[in-house]
Amino acid sequence: MPDDLTRRQLVRRATLAVCAPALARGLAGCARRISPNRDVQGGTLVDGRVVIPAAQVPELDRPGGAIVLRTPCAPRPVLIANTGTGFAAMDAICPHAGCELAWVGEDLQAECPCHGSRFAGDGTVLNPPARTNLQAFAASRDPTTGDVRLHLFAGDGVFPPVQDGKVVFPLASYPALLQTGGAVLGHPEGMNGPLLLTRPDSGANPVALSAVCTHEQCTVQPAPTGAPGTFTLYCPCHGSAFDLTGKVTHEPAPAPLSTFLVEVDASGIVTVTVGAICS
Ligand code: FES
Ligand code: FES
Repeated sequence: MPDDLTRRQLVRRATLAVCAPALARGLAGCARRISPNRDVQGGTLVDGRVVIPAAQVPELDRPGGAIVLRTPCAPRPVLIANTGTGFAAMDAICPHAGCELAWVGEDLQAECPCHGSRFAGDGTVLNPPARTNLQAFAASRDPTTGDVRLHLFAGDGVFPPVQDGKVVFPLASYPALLQTGGAVLGHPEGMNGPLLLTRPDSGANPVALSAVCTHEQCTVQPAPTGAPGTFTLYCPCHGSAFDLTGKVTHEPAPAPLSTFLVEVDASGIVTVTVGAICS
């Protein structure tokens, strides 16, 4: 018997092994063994992070404590738990049949009360009948205020993170934007979708576009035109195409790509205002 398993953990695991198949078949006889976590409403949005005041979530002060956050900034509730070494945060809705998960602190796992699916702290499915992983999020504690920060939108590092609703960078760092016909695709941390910067003509500032296709929300990609360093914009899902200003040149996209305000100062610093992403 492994030394690091408590008797309670062993009992829980044995019960799970017996009950999960029965629960998955909808059979009675295996009582619900976990308690739901307390709902917390709200949080304030700051550059793609939901900030939850420490006083609102005392559960997260102790290892094993957990809450379910419901915020207009995320499409679904988020389970946040204190793991003892940090926070685990993931989609709180089970992908099997939509029940709400609860945190099992002693195992550092989330469990579904309906049919026994289990998930690791990073959202990886461990136990069926669920077969797909949960979306996981980063969460951290503000070292100054103690507030909990939930990072909803990870970036890919191509552009700097959103700060005060803006993405700011030196134009010279992106040579593709110095050439007419150039385009750069990236996802700034804190933005709820990918961003396209393009250079449609030689005299004007770059253009900033949402890379979310207006047909069914796939990511629009820069596609080489054949002339070196020049691109058009193409959606790989159903073939919509756009010019570098975001105008539709090939359907089924029903509308142009959304644009963001771009300013370039005398020293070549570009500021793209992406603004708030939820209220
Ligand atoms: S809803 Fe069936 S295991 Fe979660
Ligand atoms: S989602 Fe882009 S063309 Fe359909």
